Amino acid sequence: MATGMQEYEAAIAPLKQALFDQLFSPLTAAADTAIANSSSSSSTFNVLEVGIGTGPNFQFYPATSSSSSSSSSSSSSSSSQQLLSVTGIEPNPAMWQYTQQAAEAAGLGQQQLQLVAADAQQMPVERDSFDAAVVTLVLCSVPEPQQALSELLRVLKPGGSLLLIEHVIAPRFGLLQLQQRVLDPLQQLLADNCHLTRNTAAVLQASGFECGNNNSDSWVQPLAVQSVEAAAARVAAGSSELMSFEVPGMSLIAPHIAGILKKPVSV
Ligand SMILES: C[S@@+](CC[C@H](N)C(=O)[O-])C[C@H]1O[C@@H](n2cnc3c(N)ncnc32)[C@H](O)[C@@H]1O
Repeated sequence: MATGMQEYEAAIAPLKQALFDQLFSPLTAAADTAIANSSSSSSTFNVLEVGIGTGPNFQFYPATSSSSSSSSSSSSSSSSQQLLSVTGIEPNPAMWQYTQQAAEAAGLGQQQLQLVAADAQQMPVERDSFDAAVVTLVLCSVPEPQQALSELLRVLKPGGSLLLIEHVIAPRFGLLQLQQRVLDPLQQLLADNCHLTRNTAAVLQASGFECGNNNSDSWVQPLAVQSVEAAAARVAAGSSELMSFEVPGMSLIAPHIAGILKKPVSV
């Protein structure tokens, strides 16, 4: 299983890198501006990662923060003190030691990560408090995904971003969808309530989040399935669309969708 997840992470890495680069672009832009202006910024970029697990996404977070904050007083050149603060929601505390190890390996300081044992459907965090949220392979397991998305809308600041990657049901009826429907109960039993048949794009469309698909009647059918590399290239070129893609080696857990959605500025 661990090897399987390593292979999965390696296969999806180009797309994750492009998505996280886009998600964190306000933070990196603020740091660049502070350096260019020989000034320092002290605002904090607050990120919420829901169902953070063992922290496989930390490798894609920018490692700017702990070093800049600790070296600011000694550095003769200016440095950005814009801090990255991460709150991880993870209902299984048995994972936390691995989450903390992954954070440390990625250069996040201990004071930058707070882990909370909670349910995505009811999170003990303030309204309008996060600049960005991350959800990868979690809505397949949450009992009521629409309730989790409603919570994410509540806790993100207006205009805040949600990076999302999920596996979903095959869009058309055929052999793959039939297999998914037949094996779904077994998958839930063996894989911690993971569903093979979630239509997460449709749930997203009804959630109140915005993305480049807003002008489409359906967010599901227009999603042409593409390769990880093609999807990554589109994100790197600035696309804000929800995309559908195949991860090599994941035949039943396919296709995936990914994108960066926005909480409307006025709700
Ligand atoms: C398949 S793992 C994904 C972990 C990680 N996000 C990743 O991309 O590898 C699903 C994660 O969601 C968490 N999870 C399951 N149900 C949840 C819920 N109702 N609220 C919050 N997290 C949940 C699990 O504990 C687990 O860490």
